[in-house]
Amino acid sequence: MSDLNDEVSAHEPTAFELVGGEARVRELIDRFYDLMDLEADFAGIRALHPASLDGSRDKLFWFLCGWLGGPDHYISRFGHPRLRARHLPFAIASSERDQWLRCMAWAMEDIGLAEPLRERLLGSFFETADWMRNRNG
Ligand code: HEM
Repeated sequence: MSDLNDEVSAHEPTAFELVGGEARVRELIDRFYDLMDLEADFAGIRALHPASLDGSRDKLFWFLCGWLGGPDHYISRFGHPRLRARHLPFAIASSERDQWLRCMAWAMEDIGLAEPLRERLLGSFFETADWMRNRNG
């Protein structure tokens, strides 16, 4: 006999759950933007962002909660993300894509996400970041 609790606990955990929920997603995003702000390696993509990263932090946090399979905070505020269109004002070539991905990989490591999860997420981030490229080079 299975009851509702069995079914609830038997579902495949979402990436959001594996990361550890909202507090951990926030930690990841804060580390990501701290690194972008601090590290010379990421100066190229830092320069594309506004002087204050406060708004960027909130938007990426809201977006990632839903993207990882958790609550859809971004969509409930802004509607469909139209992510590629929203990135068109910024020149994104392979170099910017790779800076973004290295910054995210570094942040995931710094907050102590387990290696197999980091690898899986990096693969998904690559797909999205690559799709955002809008310039050659
Ligand atoms: C490929 C390299 C990328 C670069 C150079 C880049 C750069 C930027 C910049 C400059 C902004 C504007 C920040 C602001 O208005 O405060 C932005 C916004 C945003 N980015 Fe990216 N991004 C990249 C990849 C990604 C990826 C892979 C994701 C998701 C997994 C993402 C999600 C977002 C979101 C949700 C916003 C907020 C959009 C809005 O509502 O205005 N970005 N990005």
